[in-house]
Formats: sequence, C-alpha cells, structure tokens
Amino acid sequence: MQQVVHDPDHMRALVHEARAAGQRVGFVPTMGALHAGHASLVARASRECDVVVVSIFVNPTQFGPQEDFTRYPRTLAADTALLAAHGVRWIYAPEASSVYPPGDATRIVVGGPAVRFEGEQRPGHFDGVATVVCKLFLAVPADVAYFGAKDWQQSLVVKRMVRDLGLPIGIVVCPTMREPDGLAMSSRNAYLSVADRPRAVALSESLHRAAELWSAGADTATIERTMRETLSSHGVVIDYAALADPESLDPLPKNATRAIALVAGRLGSTRLIDNMELPTRGSPERGAET
Ligand code: PAJ
Repeated sequence: MQQVVHDPDHMRALVHEARAAGQRVGFVPTMGALHAGHASLVARASRECDVVVVSIFVNPTQFGPQEDFTRYPRTLAADTALLAAHGVRWIYAPEASSVYPPGDATRIVVGGPAVRFEGEQRPGHFDGVATVVCKLFLAVPADVAYFGAKDWQQSLVVKRMVRDLGLPIGIVVCPTMREPDGLAMSSRNAYLSVADRPRAVALSESLHRAAELWSAGADTATIERTMRETLSSHGVVIDYAALADPESLDPLPKNATRAIALVAGRLGSTRLIDNMELPTRGSPERGAET
C-alpha cells in the first residue's frame, strides 16, 4: 500500500497518473522526525484529498554553516510507521544528489516577507527553503500543499513564491499543534535538556501575554516589552519578540486592527520559534499620546 519513492521522475509520473485518473493529490513537505504537528497536516490532507504524498528530505541549503544540519534528527523508520498509520500512499525521500545535482548553481531568491525576523537571523535560510520547495513541487505536482502556521514566515514566503512564479498549486496553512503546557511541537524540542524543557513554555506564554494586552488596547511598544520580559524571566536568550502585520510582516502601522506576535530565542544550544495571530481589534491603539 505505502511506497517510498526516491527518484523525482518516478514520483512525478505517479502523481500525474493519479491526477489523470481524477484523483485530488495533497502534498505535505517535511524534513522528517515527524510528530503530531506534521500528523495534523497529513490528517487535513487526507480529509481533503484522495491521495497524500509526504516528502522527507533534510534540506542542506536552508541550514547555515553553524546550524544543526548534521545533528538534525533522522528517524525514517518511525516516520514511515507514523505515515502508514495515517494511510499515506507515497513517501517521497529523494537523495541529496538528485535534488542538488553536482555543479548545482541555481537558487530562488526571496524578498518581501522573507526579509525580517528569520531572514535577518538566518541569512540565506529562506532562499534555501524556497529553492527546495519549488523543486519538491516539481517532483510532486500536487493539487494542494499543506504547511504549518508554526512556521508562519515560511508559509508567507511559500505563498509569495507560488504567486510570483505562478506555480500551479494551492497552499493551505494549518494551525500549530502544541504540547499540553503550550510549547509548539517541533522536531528541535528533542534537543532541549531536562532543565530547559519547562523553561520553553516561555515562548507560548509570551504570546498569550501579547494577545491579552493587545485585546486590552495596549500599544505595540508595551506589548513587545512584556513579551521580552516574559522570555527573559524564563532564561530564554531572545533573538526577537515583536508584533508585525500578519501578511507582509512589516512593522505595524498606527491603529492596526490585525497583528501577529512572533518570538524566537535560545535555551542552551536549542533555538525555538513560535507565533500567534492576535484577535482582530476594532479600536485604535491607546498609546501614551492619546
Ligand atoms: P519541517 O520543520 O519538518 O516542517 C514540515 C511542516 O510541518 C511545515 O509546514 C511546518 O510548519 C509544519 N509543522 C511543524 N511543526 C508544527 C506544529 N507544531 N503544528 C503544525 N504544523 C507544524 O518546515 C520544514 O520542515 C521545511 O522548511 C520544509 C518546508 C520541508 C522545506 O525543507
């Protein structure tokens, strides 16, 4: 029933065949080390499509030279078991040499929503993501692809690339799955030490504080300060803690009604990110000057 496909041409032919037979094909790109967050994307794809393809590929070009590419968890046996339990038909697991052939010299360069936050912290990261996602879309020419709101900026970057390049695929963004204490599920949570694990709740806590203050009409500076205080009080070394426009990620205009809160920081050598869309508010900000 389940098939692991390594060759991009074979994968593309299987998807074309399924679509020619009138089946709706859903695609979930991943780097493996699958958890319930990934599974929620697969479950949504299964509900909405006739056939689901999941890719597992730890993409070297989206990791910086000092980042965790070599130690990124690789758990293919457990991953295939989880996907079998979810009725996934095809797992696309290409070799690095077929994604990046020898002498490979081509990249997709993304601007717009890729520029701030992760784009500043991880130079080149989103070019690597956009390049691999485009290559994955070529090998898996599905009707629709599923991404997680957990990586909100990534989902904006993918949507922008799809629009700008006119790629013929729909993009669905699914809600973030969390541990009982609020920590967003992530393959990188496995790196957290026993001492750091409870501190990691600081990220979701700072987002909840932001949502409360936002709903109460607080100004951006106050909300961002409170987010930083919450993170620091748990020992998180902050990369950023900010509000932004949820579509462009630009700084919020005065009197914004919509916002997203984004946080990133480190506990020991583990880097964590999280975000939360804040409830739409009708009233203008009650800043110090009003
Ligand atoms: P990866 O980190 O494996 O995540 C694969 C997908 O699962 C992404 O769309 C991500 O946002 C989603 N996801 C991760 N944690 C989640 C959670 N707690 N709840 C809901 N969805 C969650 O993101 C990547 O891989 C790569 O950058 C990739 C797009 C595959 C390109 O290499």
